[in-house]
Amino acid sequence: MLGSKNIVDVVLGMQYGDEAKGKVTHYLASNNNYTHVMRWGGGCNAGHTIIHNGQKLVTHLVPVGVLHGIKSIVGTGCVLNVDYFLKEIKYLENAGVQITGNLFVAENVHITTSAHLEEEANEVKVGTTRRGIGPTYRDKVARKGLLAKHVPELSKYLIDVYEEFHNTNENIRILCEGAQGFGLDVNWGDYPYVTSSQCALSGVFQNAISPHWIRDVWGVGKIYETYVGAKQFEPSEIIFQRIREIGEEYGATTGRARQCNWLNLNELIKAVKINSCNNLVINKMDVMRKVGHWKLYHDNKLLSFTKEQHIKSYILDNVKNVYIHFSEHKDRIAY
Ligand code: IMP
Ligand code: MG
Repeated sequence: MLGSKNIVDVVLGMQYGDEAKGKVTHYLASNNNYTHVMRWGGGCNAGHTIIHNGQKLVTHLVPVGVLHGIKSIVGTGCVLNVDYFLKEIKYLENAGVQITGNLFVAENVHITTSAHLEEEANEVKVGTTRRGIGPTYRDKVARKGLLAKHVPELSKYLIDVYEEFHNTNENIRILCEGAQGFGLDVNWGDYPYVTSSQCALSGVFQNAISPHWIRDVWGVGKIYETYVGAKQFEPSEIIFQRIREIGEEYGATTGRARQCNWLNLNELIKAVKINSCNNLVINKMDVMRKVGHWKLYHDNKLLSFTKEQHIKSYILDNVKNVYIHFSEHKDRIAY
């Protein structure tokens, strides 16, 4: 049966975005012979900072796959700002990246218009990225939206993902590149301090992907947490300023300082379970080593550990049924 041997791996944020999904996606894309890389939700609110062949690149919409010459798709679950998209293409082409023939946009992606941007220009209640993400998804659901296939400038990039994944190719291997994180998911995040897309695994299935094709789900988190937005997230202790400085916790999209806090283990376990993760990357261990404190919240208590090995053992004992990889910020090829 056509398509029966298709394989899909998913990279998904476990916290509030900025967990270094870019690093994991970039690493997987360079190693697993994928035929496609697809962004499956969100829009140019995302920011992936990638070190590619020694060159620092920041992308917002274009999937990391283009850097490896892999066919890359902005999937149906995404929203797209045409100006940003075309600017990002120019930026990447100037950096020597081959775009033509590698980059595609699902024809039923919804478009962010200038009216959406104006509407969000002074938004403060949620602390959005002001990229018009909420208004675009709202108009999609309200059946008032504009589709990519109706935008002439996008005609050369359009793709029908149903044809592509189900009828045209056999034995495809797709890497699904997540944006934002489970803590910002419109269903599961701390509403209303959420984004307007499904950042959970459910978002993948908006993109003509069969659940039977899923092989690995890579959850990506950090040994501490960060959040950008209007709610108070960071406790008023000087230590979090240190974590921010050492961890370079400033937004790739808006430049805003990210609020920091200790890891919440209950939230991490919930994210692993709801998203069926079989692999979990816990990034930035070296940042905490430099900060010199090992702490996490579990069952409403703040626990302190005297040694790195102790916190690792505690996490391994309590986060079950998932293969855990502790990872270092300094090893990044992307973050
Ligand atoms: P929006 O997605 O621009 O509507 O913003 C909603 C919330 O999600 C705000 O708190 C943003 O700061 C946050 N957010 C959206 N995208 C990202 C991201 O890529 N990284 C971190 N936070 C994000
Ligand atoms: Mg980011």
